Amino acid sequence: MEIVKTKVAIIGSGPAGLLLGQLLYKAGIDHVIIEQRSAEYVASRIRAGILEQVSVDLLEQAGVDQNLKTKGLPHSGIEILTNGKKHRVDLSSLTEGKQVTVYGQTEVTKDLMQAREHAELTSFYEAEQVQVDDFYSEPKVTFHYHGKDYQIECDFIAGCDGYHGVCRASVPVDKVKTFEKVYPFGWLGVLADVPPVADELIYVQSERGFALCSMRSETRSRYYLQVPLTDHVEDWSDERFWEELKRRLDPESREKLVTGISIEKSIAPLRSFVTEPMRFGQLFLAGDAAHIVPPTGAKGLNLAASDIAYLSSALVEYYHEGSEQGINEYSEKCLQRVWKAERFSWWMTHLLHRFETESEFDHKIKQAELSYILTSQAGQTTLAENYVGLPYEIKPLNHLQPVG
Ligand code: APR
Ligand code: PHB
Repeated sequence: MEIVKTKVAIIGSGPAGLLLGQLLYKAGIDHVIIEQRSAEYVASRIRAGILEQVSVDLLEQAGVDQNLKTKGLPHSGIEILTNGKKHRVDLSSLTEGKQVTVYGQTEVTKDLMQAREHAELTSFYEAEQVQVDDFYSEPKVTFHYHGKDYQIECDFIAGCDGYHGVCRASVPVDKVKTFEKVYPFGWLGVLADVPPVADELIYVQSERGFALCSMRSETRSRYYLQVPLTDHVEDWSDERFWEELKRRLDPESREKLVTGISIEKSIAPLRSFVTEPMRFGQLFLAGDAAHIVPPTGAKGLNLAASDIAYLSSALVEYYHEGSEQGINEYSEKCLQRVWKAERFSWWMTHLLHRFETESEFDHKIKQAELSYILTSQAGQTTLAENYVGLPYEIKPLNHLQPVG
């Protein structure tokens, strides 16, 4: 068995694990990443693509914002289409100039992987039988890699291994509580090399269900339709997808919509999920390993980023200042922000989707709420400040000296 000693073992090479790795590298804190999939698989996963300003700031601090700066599309507003009419929510004017940036999660992942490769940091891709042990005393990670057994001995384990990962599953059941809501529909997503139907995102509430017009660039669009969970991707030819999208849009957008061959098509279920606490001894959960939001508010990646901001600064405090305050406060600080984003994502989902179980009364109340939000300055401000992201402090990383 090969023994590797390090300070932090990061399980999972999604955006959470990679960003933590990059920030620890910048702070001179030794770490390794253990990932069960191949690097190619990780770099090609397609997911949402809206970054809050604070997430952009964090990527800048991590030194991985070169492509983001040149290719990211800053957006200062979103459109909400209801009753066949579009209403613009001017995010920037409602939030003292804040905006969001359209930049695919796939690109964020690739940028982080490239930086990691460039810095020659240790990653074990395609690790098998990953196991985390003894995280209440002397943490260990064991796995099988390229025909050999490995054991990582470390001070801390960062569980960045997503919803299906091994870290949360390894916590004793009496030490953890989970909260969950599963929604009775999914999102059918299509990626196509066609110009976006509009300059800004359009969130569509219609009698036929929710739709979203998003984008990855000026020549690549991402569209979604609310579909029953019983539907399969094979049920949806490109033609059927575009027809249904058109039926949910307003006449002007319908006219402008450019259709084309899909380059990716998938159905994702919608779920709200939170784990409490997010720390178990020397094991910290971050990102999807700890919480899931439905994609309606585009908060998944941003929440992963804020967990990592708290975790990296807690580890910097621990190693450079000898203080345990950050690690002791990690779970509570994260969860405060997590629950607010959970609330916002649940609310957006509830407001914009069609639920089969809703009564006519429920439907009328929802229409009234949406109308209130879109016509009141206070209502729009509530939406805008949550959408651009609730603020948190990003501590400067001044410690570039490696920790011995
Ligand atoms: N051992 C090693 N790696 C694992 C294991 C395991 N047992 N289980 C899962 N993983 C890996 C997965 O293969 C994946 O690459 O952990 C990684 C988790 O990455 P993500 O699922 O992308 O989770 P996270 O980094 O928290 O990213 C959050 O992703 O799903 C979106 O909406 C979400 O945008 C948010 C972001
Ligand atoms: C996306 O572009 O994939 C996207 C954008 C906004 C959302 C969800 C997904 O709310």
